[in-house]
Amino acid sequence: MNQSLFRIADLTKDEIFAILNDAQAFLFDQRDWQFPERKLIANLFFEPSTRTHYSFASAEHQLNCRVEHFSAQGSSVEKGESLYDTVKTFASIGYDALVIRHPQDAYFKQLQGLDIPIINAGDGKGNHPTQCLLDLLTIYQEFGHFEGIKVAIIGDIAHSRVAHSMKEAMALLGGEVRFGGPREYIAETDTSDVDDLMRWGDVVMMLRVQHERHAEVMKLSKAQYLSAYGLTQARYDRLAPHAIVMHPAPINRGVEIADALVESEKSRIFKQMSNGVLVRKAVLKRAFGYHFE
Ligand code: CP
Repeated sequence: MNQSLFRIADLTKDEIFAILNDAQAFLFDQRDWQFPERKLIANLFFEPSTRTHYSFASAEHQLNCRVEHFSAQGSSVEKGESLYDTVKTFASIGYDALVIRHPQDAYFKQLQGLDIPIINAGDGKGNHPTQCLLDLLTIYQEFGHFEGIKVAIIGDIAHSRVAHSMKEAMALLGGEVRFGGPREYIAETDTSDVDDLMRWGDVVMMLRVQHERHAEVMKLSKAQYLSAYGLTQARYDRLAPHAIVMHPAPINRGVEIADALVESEKSRIFKQMSNGVLVRKAVLKRAFGYHFE
């Protein structure tokens, strides 16, 4: 069965847990599981990426897929070919699944009728479902459940594809998400003071200031931003003893988080990246409807 993944909101609670449990299985008793038949997969990234692109590639190689990396530069996109025709072409020439990141919000709506599994690796300011799943896996590994877990998300909420997906997912799973950060980067009115939020959270998730999506240059200097909204050593020292620090990365070191705290004891930032491979293996396995024996 073709199981595309476009938005976290398309998944039920049971489907989220199935993916997280499969990801955990890839960490423990199914480390060597591979597709019984080799799959041909193309990664189409129309926007820059390091973690998502290459953790998908790592997952694909570990599952014994053949992997191609599409670049718009040098392709017929340069002759004006549409996204729909590009994707339809890949489906027609023998590819088994596609991973796509594209700057257009909800680009996938035009592709939903195509007979090929598509995994959304990020659409504009919209969705990034595998990032949300890897964040959920990191929280699940830490606390063993989601009921009552408080997630403070701080920073550039307005331009984030992580924040709103996490709020939806945690509501479904019984947790709670609150937002804080610069007023101009948050559309919601119910925001919290950053210092209160950091003391409140079981999870403190710092978001990158997404300069590339801003129409205007940030008014604050890096040091001013860190002092007003960032995770400084003083704020870190006031976190709950059991709290963890997360960040989807890439990180602006010294802006949303002090450089020395990126690899601090409470930081799970690089764990999130490792979990990205596990979750992407689980999502690829789901895309083809396979089950563990
Ligand atoms: N977190 C994330 O999506 O990182 P990349 O842009 O490097 O893929």
